[in-house]
Amino acid sequence: MSRLRRRAALTGVVVAGVLLAGCGSGHSPSMLDAKGSESRHIAGLWWLMFAIACGVYAIVAGFIVVAVLRRPAVTSETEPDPAGRRFDDRMVVFGGVVVPILVLVVLAVVTVTTTNALRRPESDALHVDVVGKRWWWAVTYPSVHFTTANELRLPAGRPIEIRLTSDNVIHSFWVPQLAGKVDTIPGQTNLLRFVARTPGTYKGECAEFCGVQHTHMGFIVRVQSPGDFDRWLTQHSRPALEPASEPAAQGEAAFNAQSCAGCHTIAGTPAAGTLGPDLTDIGERETLGAGALTNTPDNLARWITDAPGAKPGVLMPELDLSPRDVQSIVAYLESLK
Ligand code: CUA
Repeated sequence: MSRLRRRAALTGVVVAGVLLAGCGSGHSPSMLDAKGSESRHIAGLWWLMFAIACGVYAIVAGFIVVAVLRRPAVTSETEPDPAGRRFDDRMVVFGGVVVPILVLVVLAVVTVTTTNALRRPESDALHVDVVGKRWWWAVTYPSVHFTTANELRLPAGRPIEIRLTSDNVIHSFWVPQLAGKVDTIPGQTNLLRFVARTPGTYKGECAEFCGVQHTHMGFIVRVQSPGDFDRWLTQHSRPALEPASEPAAQGEAAFNAQSCAGCHTIAGTPAAGTLGPDLTDIGERETLGAGALTNTPDNLARWITDAPGAKPGVLMPELDLSPRDVQSIVAYLESLK
């Protein structure tokens, strides 16, 4: 094997290794690990496209190998063979026109069929409203007027209809394991319909570059059994409970006395701001700042005092609070479940 060929083969192995290393990562949700009816349609279409692409690649690569190995013994003196020329012309028409048209027609029909299957409305669907904010998601269950942020709970097996819009730039709502991605567009409502089949926790991401914190615009979808979901929704159709501990009660007073209540809502309290996320159930959320920090008391204290330090560009300003106020507000917010 020549040095050039050895180098080419080595480069091929390295590139394949790097590409396959990405497939092995367990941290990113994969649309091929489908857990919903619609995501299964999409995964099926993906596998069909992959199979066709592999077939086309194998045939083209095979022709290249044959062409390299079987060099025609043609010199400037030999006459071209007319029968061979006709065969070559027919192969060009068949391989360059007929086969691509067949492949594209099959893919077009399957793609349109799959797309139509994703848009079918259901009469008993659970409605959820989602608004793409400047790097977080506002989530409302209109049947009980409950609003939360960055975390959705959904019942397994029931049709879901999510109405999506944005109040700033275009974002894209994507839970790879449950459904396809749908853009959230200012002034327009787009619909995402699917059925989540398997209870579990699924990661969602903003799939459209939307500014400096596009990376930290994640969300979580918890799919529960219908009974657990109904209990959760009933619990959250009521206003937040009165603080049970003394520090939490002090925290509620500090929250309403400081600027917090001007930007955030906590149902059943005087806090009714709409600029930032609704905090009625903040104590049970997994993350802060749409995935910027894990929701722990220490991180919550950090977020309250210096949100721009944890998520540069965020609308929430630095707050100059006394350590005692910070501690009591953290106790209050962590108690909201
Ligand atoms: Cu929102 Cu990217």
